[in-house]
Amino acid sequence: MPEVLLHSALLRWWAMQLGQFFSQAWEIGPPEVLVRRIDIAEIAPGSNVDIGPAFGAALTSGEYETWQSLTSSASRQHEWLLGRLALKDVVRAWAGERGQQLEPSDIEIHIDDEGALFARCAALSGVGGSPVISLSHNSGVVVAAAADPGSLIGIDIEYADRRIDVVARALSAPEQAFVYAEAASVLDLLVAKEAATKALGVGLGGGVSRWPVVSVTPVPQGLVVEVTSATDLGLVLPVLVLHPLDTVLGICYIAPEIDAA
Ligand SMILES: CC(C)(COP(=O)(O)OP(=O)(O)OC[C@H]1O[C@@H](n2cnc3c(N)ncnc32)[C@H](O)[C@@H]1OP(=O)(O)O)[C@@H](O)C(=O)NCCC(=O)NCCS
Repeated sequence: MPEVLLHSALLRWWAMQLGQFFSQAWEIGPPEVLVRRIDIAEIAPGSNVDIGPAFGAALTSGEYETWQSLTSSASRQHEWLLGRLALKDVVRAWAGERGQQLEPSDIEIHIDDEGALFARCAALSGVGGSPVISLSHNSGVVVAAAADPGSLIGIDIEYADRRIDVVARALSAPEQAFVYAEAASVLDLLVAKEAATKALGVGLGGGVSRWPVVSVTPVPQGLVVEVTSATDLGLVLPVLVLHPLDTVLGICYIAPEIDAA
């Protein structure tokens, strides 16, 4: 079914029931990675529109309970829900490419003890299991990514004008040299670190300096920033850093290891 971009939250909900998507496909980054985005202004003009009740139907009962338990703020509930909708869409799109048509509630999104996301979907056992997934949001956009089981994927998006003085002060001398030489901005380095640590499923944990950048290489689309771990310098995580419109987007993708046996 061709994808149709719908501009109202309710229409999009009905579209989801008809096998279409709440989010838009975003052809960006490595071809092995599926990316979808939700532009919040498009679905909730003027913001703060309550999209909750309609979209609750896309959640499994466990997800619905989690969503209801997010009592810290309405905006956090909203953000969390949009994240789940984007993740379910990207899993559905990945499954669709393998001939599986899924409903949002066929997929359950979980987090492990470190906060890493993973999807469970019984219907995908016949195609090698659920894809690996990652999520990022800022005040205007939600992005979700998926790639084949066994790979590593981490995505991060920030507005290009985000204030990051604290991060600038935490950079190491080699990292400051990349910035000084205008090879990368401070935000490029932060986005790369966040995408890399999400791919590992650990998150930054507040420790920008624990994830040193070891190289910055210009490529036609943007930059490849290599991130390592202060506790395991043998680990190198490449992150493609792009600059679409007013954002900085990082995608860390590592292909599944091929079993030589
Ligand atoms: C994961 C992390 C990198 C989040 O980054 P962020 O830019 O704050 O937020 P994003 O919107 O990009 O990502 C949030 C999503 O990452 C995912 N996430 C959280 N922990 C994760 C982990 N350990 N592994 C993979 N993904 C994770 C979640 O899906 C989360 O969204 P949700 O809570 O709605 O499900 C976080 O670990 C972190 O360390 N944040 C702190 C920010 C910080 O220290 N900044 C530097 C100083 S200014």
